[in-house]
Parts: sequence; C-alpha cells; structure tokens
Amino acid sequence: MVIPMSISEILEGLSYNERRLLLALQSVGGGAAPADLISAGNFELEVEVMGAASWLASKGLVTIDEQVTKSFAVADMSVMENGLPERKALKAIDSVGGKMDMAALADALPGGEDKIAVGWLKRKKLADIVAEDGSKFLVLTDLGKGYLSKEMDDEALLARMVVAPISEKDADPRIIKDLKGRQGMIVEDIVTKRHIDLTDLGKEALAEGIELKEETVQVTDNLIQSGRWKDAEFRKYDVQTFAPAFYPAKKHPLSRLAADVKRIFTDMGFTEYDGEYVHPAFWDLDMLFVPQDHPARDLQDTFYLSNPAKIPVTDEKLLETVKNIHENGGDTGSTGWGGKWSREMAEQGMLRTHTTVNTIESIAMDPKVPSKVFSLSRIFRKESIDATHLPEFTQIEGYIIDDNANFDMLISIIREFYAKMGFDQIRIRPAYFPYTEPSLELEVFFNGKWMELGGAGVFRPEVVAPFGIDKPVLAWGFGFERLAMLKWGITDIRDLYISDVDLLKKNRIL
Ligand code: PHE
Repeated sequence: MVIPMSISEILEGLSYNERRLLLALQSVGGGAAPADLISAGNFELEVEVMGAASWLASKGLVTIDEQVTKSFAVADMSVMENGLPERKALKAIDSVGGKMDMAALADALPGGEDKIAVGWLKRKKLADIVAEDGSKFLVLTDLGKGYLSKEMDDEALLARMVVAPISEKDADPRIIKDLKGRQGMIVEDIVTKRHIDLTDLGKEALAEGIELKEETVQVTDNLIQSGRWKDAEFRKYDVQTFAPAFYPAKKHPLSRLAADVKRIFTDMGFTEYDGEYVHPAFWDLDMLFVPQDHPARDLQDTFYLSNPAKIPVTDEKLLETVKNIHENGGDTGSTGWGGKWSREMAEQGMLRTHTTVNTIESIAMDPKVPSKVFSLSRIFRKESIDATHLPEFTQIEGYIIDDNANFDMLISIIREFYAKMGFDQIRIRPAYFPYTEPSLELEVFFNGKWMELGGAGVFRPEVVAPFGIDKPVLAWGFGFERLAMLKWGITDIRDLYISDVDLLKKNRIL
C-alpha cells in the first residue's frame, strides 16, 4: 500500500537535481523541452534533466510528455546527381528512339544497374519487354514517354527530402516503402520530442518554497573519519518510491531443485553415480530379475533401438548365472521363472526405462558393504504425454547396502528425504516389483487425488546373488518432475519444460 505523502514529506525527499529542475521549470513559466531546461537549471546534460524529471514524475510533481516522430532523409546523394536507375534507362531508351536492345542497356548502365532499372521500368509500367529476332527489347510505354518531361512521385519526394528530412506523416507510405526497399537510398531518423511540465502538486511544492542545498547521499569512510558527517545534510530515503522490478540471471528452477536433491543425499553420506542412457535389456531388466515375458518389456512400454538393435553381453559367466537364476533360481534357493531364458532378448538395445539400472551397475562395479549411492538422471518410457506423464523424465534413485539395513530403515530414509524436501504428508502402500521383496509404493495427495511418486523395496536374492551379497540391499526410485510439481503447485508436468521466459524470470529463488 502506498501511503500518500504530505507536501512537506515530498519536499524533504527531493534530491538536489530534483530541486534544481523544479526551480528551472518555474523560471521558464511551468514547462519546457529538456534541452531548454539545461540552461535554465545549469545542468550539463539532457540525461541529468531527464533523470530528475522521471523521479519528479514518479512523485507526481511533473508530467513528461513524449512524442515520437519518424522522419526520412536521403542517404545516397549520388542518386540525386545521377538520377534513379529507371530514369537513366528512360533517357537512354529515348535517346535511341524509344526502343532499345536489352544488351545495349547493359552497356549504358554498367555494373548491374540495368537489371535494377528494368525491374523498376516494368513495375512502374514505363516500358514493355518485347522479344524480336531472338533478342529482347525495351519499348517505352505512353506512361514512360510522359515521364520524360516530368518528375515521378518518388523523385519528387526525394527532392523534397534533400531540402529537409520529411516526417512520416507528410509522406505517402507506399512511396516510402519502395524507397526503403532500395538499398541504402534513404535513412530513417527517429526523434523523440519531450516536454516536461509542472503539475498542480509541483506548483504547490514550489509555493512552499524550495531551497537549493547541497546534500550528502552517500556515507563514505572519509565522511565518518573526518567527522564531516556531523554537519552533513543527508537526503531522506523514500522507501515507498517506485523502483523497477529487477530480474537477475539465475539457475533454472529444475536445476536448483536437482541441486537440493543432491545435497540432501550427499549430506546423508551418499555418493553419486550415473551410467549410460543406452543398455542391453540384460542390465535394465534381466539383471533385475524382470521375467522375459513381463509386460514392461513390451514394445508399448519400452523404446527398443534399431541402431544398435543388439548390444552383445560379453561376460559369459554372468550370463550363465543370470540365465540359471531366471530358469531355475540357480543357487539362490528361488525356483526362478521357469521356461527358457533367451540371450537374444537380453541383448536387445534399449533406452533405460529406470535408473535402477544405475543401481545394479554400480553394485556390480563395487559390491562392498556398507555402500550408499544415489543417482539423479534421465529415463525413457513409451508413455503418452498428459498432465502427469512424459516419455522422458528424471528419477531420484538410490540404494543402501548395510548389515543393519531393513524395511523400516527404508521407510524412514524415504520419510526423511521427503520431509527435507518439505513434504510430510506421504502415504506408503505395499506394492510389487520383480526385483524387490518386500516392495512399497509411495504416494502423495495432490490436486485432489493420490499421485504416485515412486517405488522402493529390499532387493531379492535373485538380484544380488551374482555379486555374492548376502546383506540387505535397500533400493528406491522416485519421480523428480512430480516432486517439482508438488513443490511449485504445478498441475501440468509439461509446464516444467516449456521455456516460458516470463515465468522463469518471475520464479522466486527465495
Ligand atoms: N524402478 C522402479 C520404477 O521405476 C522404482 C524402484 C526402484 C522400485 C528400486 C523398487 C526398487 O518405478
């Protein structure tokens, strides 16, 4: 709310230049152009006048009237001496009896000017082109002949422009458009005329009496040390005065959220891992004990690649182990999925469908106990796009291998993470994933319904056995974009990736 200020408050807050300008305005009778106020107020530059004027205007003491006018002047004076190309052509054609071979015109107007001339002759209907005996001739029309002894409209306008620039409103816009189209012929000059006038409030302020005193606007160490501050006149701050909004450069909100997520995990002692987007199905699915007839393997759900369509898996020992685990459980005590496991299916090239592939890859590379690793990265699924689904999105993934790890610990890590992100209202439900047992699903109430945020669980022995791990491995994967939606109350996930500069500008960093 802006509290109206009294005249005396306004007067106190006036700067030296503002006072000077008010007095200058009074001395010239209440209003003038900035240029005239330079001398009246002993200013040096017009920008000083305008600076003071806009402050006074924001305080209601003056008005600034601005009128922008466009004018045009001749840029290429050689045209004025020699005439437009079509004028030269008119004369040349007339000098040989009103009909001229095109080739002869090229000689008369060298350097390509003949082509420009022919273009305008046709456009202005000054000459026709006729073909005779294999050559082309220019034949003057009656209109063309008529102009031999009189000025064309554009020539007349150019002649006036030479005397003085012509303002936009005094010129035929079609002619101006044509002249502007001719390179380098005319220039446009934009003149802004300003007039500054005292308002009634300004006059009232002057009537109160305005004293022109030097003032201190900045407190310097010198001012303090010298003790001069004791006698200095300080200018009053006006904390209510209008100031333009300022939008400094800043990181994209999603980048900031990603940094927050990473910080929470690194603060809890996790290290970060990320792998490739492209994998053989073996790592994204088979290693995670996803059966080969699982619907997630479907063409409908997964982006399989045509190049590379096949990514060979070369670790024969691992292949054998995984094959056995799928077919009969291997040494894990599980019965496996039964049936025949296909190496060909496992070697299909695909875009990763979850960052759980990062988890299993990281465990394979370094299966040590204890471990705490997270990843925040992009995944791909054949989803149809709607308000809560994108075919490309980001997962917050992680795992813990620890002697003491258990399902309760998993739940508390999840709760802690979301609480640190600012959400304590989450719901945990039993769920099913082929790679975890027990498994859970995490949901949050948003926009009138429960929205799924991700899944988690304790890895099954079938998943960790190939690495000789017999300790509990807690694993999870959460949606990053959905977290962003919650955070900013965005109801359409697509809005996150629309680069609306205005929204980005106004997005608050605090
Ligand atoms: N990969 C699962 C998903 O994409 C999430 C998950 C990760 C579940 C780890 C259990 C363990 O939805």
